[in-house]
Amino acid sequence: MINKSVKHKGVIFDLDGVITDTAEYHYLAWKKLADELNVYFDREINENLKGISRIESLEIILKKSDKFFSEEEKYYLADKKNEYYKEMIKRMTPKDLLPGVVDLIKELKDRGIKIAVASVSKNAKTVLSNLGLIETFDYIVDAEKIKNGKPDPEIFLNAAYGIDVEPKLCIGIEDSKAGIEAINRAGMLSIGVGNYETVKGADIVLKDLSDPLPILNLL
Ligand code: G6P
Ligand code: MG
Repeated sequence: MINKSVKHKGVIFDLDGVITDTAEYHYLAWKKLADELNVYFDREINENLKGISRIESLEIILKKSDKFFSEEEKYYLADKKNEYYKEMIKRMTPKDLLPGVVDLIKELKDRGIKIAVASVSKNAKTVLSNLGLIETFDYIVDAEKIKNGKPDPEIFLNAAYGIDVEPKLCIGIEDSKAGIEAINRAGMLSIGVGNYETVKGADIVLKDLSDPLPILNLL
C-alpha cells in the first residue's frame, strides 16, 4: 500500500527481467528443451515461470506432457536447461542492462539508500558479475539459503535483514506475479515492471525503470 508520508530507506531488486533481460534467456532455454521433448510451451505459459525455481518451472512445463518422468530424469532435464541458459549468459556484458537501471542505482546510492538483489536464480552472481554489478549492491541474497521460493516473502525479508532496513521501509521491484505477491506479503511497497497483466497486483506498475521519478518520490 502506498503511504506517501513514509520515507523508504531500502530498495530490493529482482534480477531476471528487472535489471537485465535474462527472463528472455530463461524462456529461450526452456523453449529449446520443450521442443526437444515435444512438449507444448509458449510465452503465455512462460509468464507463470517468472520468479519460480528451476525445478518447479520444469514441473509446470511437464504438465503439458503425457509421459512419466522419474525424479532422476527431471533433475537431468533441469540441468540440461541450465546448460543452455549458461551458454546464453556467457556473452553478457554491461551493455545488457535494462534502460534506466544504471542511473537509478547511482541516484539511490547518492541518496544513501541501501540496495539489495533478491533473486532465486543460482546463476545470479554470474549474471551480476558479467553486468559489472557484483560490487555495487549492499547485499545479494544467497539463493541456496532460501527455503521457500516466491510467492513466499522469505527472500525479500532476508534481503531487508541483509541491508538492515525494516521491511515496511523497503521497496521491492519485480517483473513476476509470484515476486509481486512475495513483496506484498513481506509488507513492502511493490513496484511491477514489464508485462502489465503479470504485475498488476503491484502498488505501482511501470513499463521499465527508464523514468526513476515514481521511485525517487517514495524516498
Ligand atoms: C528467476 C527467474 C526464473 C528462474 C529462477 C531460477 O527467478 O525469474 O525464471 O527459473 O530464477 O533460476 P536458475 O538460474 O537457478 O535456474
Ligand atoms: Mg524476474
